[in-house]
Amino acid sequence: MYTHHALLLTPGPTPVPLAIQNAMNLPMVGHRSADFEAIAEQAFAGLKTTFGAPNDVIILTSSGTSALEASMRNLVNPEDHIVVIVSGAFGARFQQIAETYAHNLHVFNVEWGQSFNTEEVIAFIQSIEHPITAVFTQYCETSTSVLHPVAELGHALKQYDDSIYFVVDGVSCIGAVDVDMTRDQIDVLVAGSQKAMMLPPGLAFVAYNDRALERFKTVESPSFYLNLAKHHRSLEAHTTPYTPNVPAFRGVVQYSEMIEAEGLPHVVQRHYIIRDAVRRALQALKLDLLVAEDAASPTVTAFVPRDSDELKHIKNELSATYNISIAGGQGKLKGKILRVGHMGFISPFDLLPFIASLELILTNYRNENYIGKGTTAFMEVLNHAL
Ligand SMILES: Cc1ncc(COP(=O)(O)O)c(C=O)c1O
Repeated sequence: MYTHHALLLTPGPTPVPLAIQNAMNLPMVGHRSADFEAIAEQAFAGLKTTFGAPNDVIILTSSGTSALEASMRNLVNPEDHIVVIVSGAFGARFQQIAETYAHNLHVFNVEWGQSFNTEEVIAFIQSIEHPITAVFTQYCETSTSVLHPVAELGHALKQYDDSIYFVVDGVSCIGAVDVDMTRDQIDVLVAGSQKAMMLPPGLAFVAYNDRALERFKTVESPSFYLNLAKHHRSLEAHTTPYTPNVPAFRGVVQYSEMIEAEGLPHVVQRHYIIRDAVRRALQALKLDLLVAEDAASPTVTAFVPRDSDELKHIKNELSATYNISIAGGQGKLKGKILRVGHMGFISPFDLLPFIASLELILTNYRNENYIGKGTTAFMEVLNHAL
């Protein structure tokens, strides 16, 4: 089938709006200039809304993983005891970073596809015979499409021991969820540019409260490029310690203006409506969902084809015949699930070609008529949400 436009529905990178592309195409300015300082000041401050952050947000010219590493490097001393919640491939990444630096790592494993149980996390921490310095978790575990109840854990942690730093990896959901670091008791919240924030890959963001900032300034673990106290000193002077990605900083300013114009609550609501519509449509197409209703992320949905042949067929057909890219599974879910991203510069109708293509693919592959089944379920959710 001939299609003019490729449809990028991976859970990052995601489509970049023309307004952001245009902003990034403006003539280059030197990064040690008043022009750049004006851009940087707006970029740092503009991100506060999206992160629900009490302070201007640090921007690193590096991918999301650098913010994960920075959060650990700048809060944890080598002998400190820390807890990492592992519920998928990105929790495993936090674990790998911790294994590189921290000597006393305690891993709380969660079955892939499920969200953590807050009481069980607290009981796990209680069972450790040493004071815990920090707890690390994903907000959305992209590899499973679970959204964890981080606000619940934030409150439970502070009640248990308010000296524990709570660090949240929001790479694949910040920009699509209602978060407030003070309300939700999060000390450090990190994200990346290429997901719900509609920007190209290559920037990482670190939001922090005052307590975390004090710790950045006093931690003994060495760091150089990722030294957040240094980044913060530069931020206060509306600049960066090293050469930033100047066009991407302009993109951040444009992003914040777009969020201001649409209103973050509407942006969040839009993502939840799409999530619900996609889930109903997949169920109507007799495709199992990996994640239960109450743990489903608004940014990515994992579904389980009947077997590995059907899985390969769906992914290949979507790409070869319909010009639609989705993602496969990662780690132990490789070859078992498919994941469709629906975040950032996305509106409900952008998902319809994907659902309609699935109807055609499954009708022919399973020799069973699915025409109109997924799209009807999808449209019913939209109609209900109007
Ligand atoms: C939850 C989560 N954390 C961390 C990362 C790593 O980000 P990056 O690939 O930009 O380094 C990703 C990327 O997909 C992610 O989804």
